[in-house]
Amino acid sequence: MADAVTASARAVVDLDVTGHRISRHIYGHFAEHLGRCIYDGFWVGEDSPIPNERGIRLDIVEALRALDIPNLRWPGGCFADTYHWRDGIGPREQRPHIANTNWGDVVENNHFGTHEFMDLCDLLGTDAYVNGNVGSGTVQEMADWVEYLTRDDDSPMARLRRQNGRDEPWKVPFWGLGNEAWGCGGNMSAAHYAEEARRYATFCHNHGANRLTRIAAGANEDNLEWTRVLMKTLMECHGCTLYGNLPYQAVSFHYYTHSGSGINTEDATGFDEKQFYETMAYAADMERVIRGHVAVMDSYDPHNRVSLVCDEWGTWWNAEEGTNPGFLFQQNTVRDALVAGLHFDIFHRYARRLTMANIAQTVNVLQAMVLTDGDALVLTPTYHVFEMNKGHQDAEQLAAHVLEAPSRVVGGTDLPLVSLSASVKDDRALLSLTHLSADADCTVNVDLRGRDARVLRARVLTGESTTSFNDAENTDRVAPVPLEASVRDGALALTLPPHAFATVELQLA
Ligand code: AHR
Repeated sequence: MADAVTASARAVVDLDVTGHRISRHIYGHFAEHLGRCIYDGFWVGEDSPIPNERGIRLDIVEALRALDIPNLRWPGGCFADTYHWRDGIGPREQRPHIANTNWGDVVENNHFGTHEFMDLCDLLGTDAYVNGNVGSGTVQEMADWVEYLTRDDDSPMARLRRQNGRDEPWKVPFWGLGNEAWGCGGNMSAAHYAEEARRYATFCHNHGANRLTRIAAGANEDNLEWTRVLMKTLMECHGCTLYGNLPYQAVSFHYYTHSGSGINTEDATGFDEKQFYETMAYAADMERVIRGHVAVMDSYDPHNRVSLVCDEWGTWWNAEEGTNPGFLFQQNTVRDALVAGLHFDIFHRYARRLTMANIAQTVNVLQAMVLTDGDALVLTPTYHVFEMNKGHQDAEQLAAHVLEAPSRVVGGTDLPLVSLSASVKDDRALLSLTHLSADADCTVNVDLRGRDARVLRARVLTGESTTSFNDAENTDRVAPVPLEASVRDGALALTLPPHAFATVELQLA
């Protein structure tokens, strides 16, 4: 191990050079019928001794409300392309049971369906992102679901919804046209799926005042060819050009982080320094991937009409020992928090095109916000990054650059050990700093140009080591604490401890 000497970094933030708005939907979430995300997670049922409202677990709702979560994607994931929404409406006891063939091959009782999901969104104060079934569904089935959810008046689906106890239509802003169509969503070619996406989207109508952003199922990681075909097929659609309406308004992609040996091959907590840095390099590579998708989209859509959405991101480790491997339950360490910090800096930089991102997944699955064990609830290190960063939601980008920082060669390339992004809203700037050194402090000097500023609050999140995590016995082992930071002569000075994520809130004059 290298000696733990203090390093230094230099950065600049132009407080008066604003850019694009950072959509709050970049802080979106994902809840799939997978393992203990929905059942024994969000949903405990009305008869549970765990405090709940209409079956939805209240301590989870309370924890997530503190994050201002902007949208929640449901019901999958791979599950979405096996899900038939009519199985999840009507009296719960009469709903059919189905096999969840993707995740643990367990039997699903459909007690959590459309009404329960929309109720959850209401409790969370979040927008719904419903992912429809292209893989094993029909166009009519999807069109009916949109009508059921969003139509007022006396249409057949609106009437059916009323029979099931909901008078008013819901607002559903986001609609997914299948998921991972290149894989679990149907093993389709890009060309075939692109045609299907266009067809399905055509029949997902805007009922009444509801406006759908229809999202085509996109590439895996840097499969730019998939994005190219989706964009070409979209832009060359004869009828769409004629009437000026694009059938889908966004294309997605998925990016899971590991240390380079593939998803599901390493432990969440048992990793060494080499794997730590490899993970950081993999997370940082998200920038190259987004840049690639954006370049393809720019070439077909120079006026930025179509958005890029990363509707699954996060770390993917081995399931914890003693748990069902199909349930993808993993611990969450400081390493995971730093992956989130790096990703958000990148998301902020591409705010022009990237308008939504959804971490996989919110509760008890993969890189979760909260882990539950019986009635205990644990906030993960990743949760704290979302909370510390929430001021970036709907704020304007600020020009922010790291000019000098320590770096480390990982896999033949230089990995800068300090990452930074900044935004401004209502005369308050928020700076986020992610420090990747496993063992050294780093003094940081940020030249604040353009406006006078004073520190309102600075916080730092770290742990004894990169492997530190929270559990029911130690809920606050990794939690934000105040950080010393001051502005003198237009420069912000602070010292970041090793493997740390920090935020600084500034009041601008
Ligand atoms: O998030 C878990 C799974 O990962 C999703 O169901 C699928 O879309 C992806 O492969």
